[in-house]
Amino acid sequence: MLAKLSLEDKVDIIGGVSTWYTHAEPSVGLTPIRMSDGPAGLRAGIPAIAYPAPIALAATWDPELARRMGASLGRDARVRGVDLLLGPGVNIERAPMNGRNFEYMGEDPWLASRIAVGYIRGVQSQGVGATVKHFMLNNQEFNRHNASSDADERTKREIYLPAFEAAVKEAHVAAIMDSYNLVDGVHSTQNGWMNVELAKREWGFDGVIVSDWDSVYDGVAAARNGLDLEMPFAHFMSRETLLPAIRSGALSEAVIDDKVRRILRLSLRFGTSNRNEDDSQSLFSEDSDKVALEVARESIVLLKNQGSLLPLNLEKTCTLAIIGPNASPAVMGGGGSAIVETHKAVSILQGVADFVFTHATSTPSCQHRVLYDSGWPANYDVFSRTRFDGGLKQQVFSSRNWTGSAEKSDREHLNEDRIVTPANGSIRWAGRFTAPKSGRYFVIVHDGRLADHHSIYVDGHAIATKRTDLHGELYYLPMPHPLAKGETVEVRMDYLPGNTEVYPGLGVLAEDDILSVRARAIAAHADAVLVAAGFDKSTEHEGSDRTFELPPLQDTMIRNIAALNHNTIVTLNAGGNVDMRSWLDRVPALLHLWYPGEEGGTALAEVLFGRHNPEGRLPVSFETRWEDNPTFHSYYPQNVSDAATPRIRYTEGVFLGYRYYVTPSVDTQHIEPRFPFGFGLSYTTFAFSHLALSHSTLKPGAPLTVTLTVQNTGRVAGATVAQIYVGEQSPSVPRPAYELKAFQKVWLKPGESRSISLPFNRRSFAFWSDANKDWKVDHGRFTIFAGDSAAHLPLHRDVTLE
Ligand code: BGC
Repeated sequence: MLAKLSLEDKVDIIGGVSTWYTHAEPSVGLTPIRMSDGPAGLRAGIPAIAYPAPIALAATWDPELARRMGASLGRDARVRGVDLLLGPGVNIERAPMNGRNFEYMGEDPWLASRIAVGYIRGVQSQGVGATVKHFMLNNQEFNRHNASSDADERTKREIYLPAFEAAVKEAHVAAIMDSYNLVDGVHSTQNGWMNVELAKREWGFDGVIVSDWDSVYDGVAAARNGLDLEMPFAHFMSRETLLPAIRSGALSEAVIDDKVRRILRLSLRFGTSNRNEDDSQSLFSEDSDKVALEVARESIVLLKNQGSLLPLNLEKTCTLAIIGPNASPAVMGGGGSAIVETHKAVSILQGVADFVFTHATSTPSCQHRVLYDSGWPANYDVFSRTRFDGGLKQQVFSSRNWTGSAEKSDREHLNEDRIVTPANGSIRWAGRFTAPKSGRYFVIVHDGRLADHHSIYVDGHAIATKRTDLHGELYYLPMPHPLAKGETVEVRMDYLPGNTEVYPGLGVLAEDDILSVRARAIAAHADAVLVAAGFDKSTEHEGSDRTFELPPLQDTMIRNIAALNHNTIVTLNAGGNVDMRSWLDRVPALLHLWYPGEEGGTALAEVLFGRHNPEGRLPVSFETRWEDNPTFHSYYPQNVSDAATPRIRYTEGVFLGYRYYVTPSVDTQHIEPRFPFGFGLSYTTFAFSHLALSHSTLKPGAPLTVTLTVQNTGRVAGATVAQIYVGEQSPSVPRPAYELKAFQKVWLKPGESRSISLPFNRRSFAFWSDANKDWKVDHGRFTIFAGDSAAHLPLHRDVTLE
């Protein structure tokens, strides 16, 4: 095929022709390769199955389930005519704020590798290619086209590359997607070390290196440095740019041939060029939906369960209140290119209500009820509940700057009433507010209509200035300082109408009154309350980072509900950790749901009522405070003044996540994460015993088998994850105290025990030696630790490497 193509044809083939298609060459039978996002479901123009996000998949610690989810995704892709799936994402989590953590697989390279390999093998078993992304160090979303991620080679090799390496070497992944960011000052798409030296030469990658969408910045440099395919259009790797470079000898035709050969190979391996598209399977597969449910079930992590509040006893939970922004509609995934449009979406509200009404038997004394409220006070409530001392003074000026004569009136409230405004006028509302109790207060504003402008003042100090978008919105502004009981402040809104009539609102509420009247009532008398909090596709997505704190006022809502009901269960949607400090001690139960896909509500209901014993385990350490995270000083660029290329220096090196917390020589402050890597509670208990090694001394390169026994010592069936970590006793370079090198999930009936065996090889003990430019194993003593989290490893045995 290659021999029949002209140079021009070949250059055309290495650039996309539209968002999802590559160039076709009918003369040689090359059909376009059709692509689609993404990691948690198809985005191919017709509704598809939304699976839990990859971070949730990682929380299952179940590579076989990852393979099945991959196979399901592959089937979904195949029946939609998609040849290449743009997933999975395997960037390692450094900080909880990265807007795309949900698309990735946590902080540990071994766990991420096992899940990614399962996923890719599954996808590709269906004749659809997978794309491992975003190569590499795309561990933040801020300034993603300009920031450079800089790390030493050992850090890259040990932490950030293993999942890519395993995708290539073990799963034979079809494509690698280069990231937007620069790596060590060079754009990924033109980084020859990454693309050519490492991926193609060292790992033997024979697939296609594709750009992220619009991540090429220089066509000749990209062509020369290993990029094979520019997507979505040939903006840079085009005839205009490349042909003169080839003619002048600056670029060799052989380089283009190599790219075309790779694209042809991918097309023949996975594309339509070589196959009959007879996919008679259903577009909406029930099997795929079942896989989505299974992953959701296995991924939910029970983080807290004080007094064994969970599982709820259905027969005794007569009134269950469900409150919170994430209860309905369903929050299936984060935002950006991973969004999946579905034909089914089971929200928490729907999942739990369906479960209760399907399974509960009501009696005259216990009539089952599921009550719901979003929790946010209605605008009307906020404004009509506000008491300004002596009312609110309204002045309508005929000038645009609140000067000159004014038409004055008094009003009790400003409650989105219709106010006719004079042409070229301005309006001022001012009122004095006396705090009925001590605490934090919020000024609450409805900002009217499109193109109105307003400023809010407290005691003459401006706290916000804003132009109204579209139909206006309600927003909350914290007062600059807490108010003491009886303290009075002046609240003022200066308003510049952009319309002849406006509908603004102004109110003040104490923080602990920020809960709707209905939520307050149902929380107070329910047998238990579920508060559904967290991020969603509009607050956690690609292109920017999110906050460590929950979205505005959710902390307040959780605290306010917990104060009304002792049986408060919090559920969280997030790609990682959130700041829980202000409420964690006040709530007895906490479930992390990640982003659970279209069956999330069903899975949660099963876990809540004990139909399914929670078995998710954290794929990332949950720090108490952001300051505790080892990347606290390195996550943001240190040279912010250098706007052109902000440098993010991975100065924590290999001591990321639990590798930092468990290593006393680097974590000299002895910081404990709030919830450690690998942690998750169950409704049963497990015991680990009989840790044994096949050898106590190992010859260079010889394999080792680790065995141990896991027993379910509780009263219900359940699963735990046996986690095996390896630590070197006197390493020749600073190393983490121990690192995850094997794990196995074990499902056991009450009382049942099982012996498991896990293989170790040379790499299990190795570190990357910058001096040798290779993996190296020290001679000496190593310890094998076994347990169920990075912070709970009750068993250990030593082995000597000769
Ligand atoms: C994302 C990729 C995605 C691509 C196509 C980009 O914005 O970074 O992950 O595959 O868009 O949608």
